[in-house]
Amino acid sequence: MADPVIRNSTNLQGIIQSITQAGPAPSCIIREADPGDLAALVAIENQCFAIDRIARPGLRRFLAQEPTSAPQGNGIPHRLSRTLVVEQGADVCGYAIILLRRNSLIARIYSIAVIPEHRRMGLARTLLVGAESVAVESGRSRIRLEVREDNAAAMCLYSSVGYQPFAHIEQYYEDRTAAIRMEKPL
Ligand SMILES: CC(C)(COP(=O)(O)OP(=O)(O)OC[C@H]1O[C@@H](n2cnc3c(N)ncnc32)[C@H](O)[C@@H]1OP(=O)(O)O)[C@@H](O)C(=O)NCCC(=O)NCCS
Repeated sequence: MADPVIRNSTNLQGIIQSITQAGPAPSCIIREADPGDLAALVAIENQCFAIDRIARPGLRRFLAQEPTSAPQGNGIPHRLSRTLVVEQGADVCGYAIILLRRNSLIARIYSIAVIPEHRRMGLARTLLVGAESVAVESGRSRIRLEVREDNAAAMCLYSSVGYQPFAHIEQYYEDRTAAIRMEKPL
């Protein structure tokens, strides 16, 4: 399989290198999302989540994230969130949203999803490598996420790339399912 191609990052080389080191990579392109991806993200959200979906206006806000005027310590303009999409062929088939709170050393993966027809090809793992690279680029030393305690696929995914559970939050989701909070040092 070919290596993934990455576009529109401030640190292309570093991200490509870390994905290559992560093991066999699918033939895909990972890039920053833009407002033109809204319809694709809404479709992915509808296919991948039965509840707790991010509504269209929320997705639109994530896609509209512009750098704020104030740069971080590393001189890179700060953005409160970054959204990556992964394409295979002509299709946008997955995304990851990364939250980057100001004055925090911790990044948070707010959501990640891959449409059913493109699963088990390593795309989510590739998105995670991209998300972690974005976090490092933004000066973060850890990355966190929440996962439903009944989401075995996602927990396997996160464990397979080094995320460790560290907290259990009762009734976290809309249907009162608990969340496992996981973390990975970067
Ligand atoms: C979870 C999800 C993002 C995984 O996407 P994916 O592109 O299929 O994942 P990958 O192909 O990168 O899988 C990487 C590893 O994760 C684990 N994994 C992924 N799906 C799995 C499944 N259904 N069962 C068991 N392990 C699974 C495996 O270890 C896999 O490696 P392998 O294929 O070499 O065995 C996808 O199933 C999805 O979008 N689900 C619905 C939305 C969701 O639950 N998002 C996460 C919210 S916390």
